Amino acid sequence: MNTVKIIQAGYAEVQDLQTIGRQTFKETFAEHNSDQNLADYLDESFATNKLTKELNNPDSNFYFAYVGNVLAGYLKINFGDAQTEIIEESAMEIERIYVLKEFQGQKVGQALFQKALDVAAETSCSHIWLGVWEKNHKALNFYRKNGFEEFDQHIFRIGDDEQTDFLMKRTIQ
Ligand SMILES: CC(C)(COP(=O)(O)OP(=O)(O)OC[C@H]1O[C@@H](n2cnc3c(N)ncnc32)[C@H](O)[C@@H]1OP(=O)(O)O)[C@@H](O)C(=O)NCCC(=O)NCCS
Repeated sequence: MNTVKIIQAGYAEVQDLQTIGRQTFKETFAEHNSDQNLADYLDESFATNKLTKELNNPDSNFYFAYVGNVLAGYLKINFGDAQTEIIEESAMEIERIYVLKEFQGQKVGQALFQKALDVAAETSCSHIWLGVWEKNHKALNFYRKNGFEEFDQHIFRIGDDEQTDFLMKRTIQ
């Protein structure tokens, strides 16, 4: 099996981030959303200026996962005010963990999650939390397997469609 290399991404990598961000989001959610809602979300959420701002925010970190020299997945974590909801100031949010379809099931997601866990421990976070669509069973299973439990729900908007996300958390040990 190929080894997975995790490297922190900076603003110079904005183009790569935009490409993998759009592709993985499309692969995950295209079948569940209208073309228009998906296109609007991809335009807005992965716009170059938005991603550049996020890459330059000291409270957000991005990591790329390489299999050989192919960019196979990425992780976005948030601290402090960069969290999409402030559940606790000392918590860390996993906002995005995405692996290209052709690389799923090869431990790329696990390597990205391990990175998140290492950073949470290094920065003395109390716990990690995240939001996941209630019907994203693959991700729910992945998170449950990694020790997360549901504690709340919130509404996530894609275009004019409102969807329910489960909020999940786990402590750091
Ligand atoms: C969820 C996701 C990140 C998992 O990454 P992955 O690279 O496919 O998963 P891994 O190969 O690292 O698997 C890690 C562990 O989780 C388990 N796992 C992965 N997918 C699973 C599934 N569908 N059902 C049950 N267990 C699963 C694996 O069996 C493995 O456990 P093991 O070590 O005991 O074998 C990936 O599938 C993905 O990117 N999905 C689409 C994007 C997405 O939904 N992201 C989350 C948005 S909130």
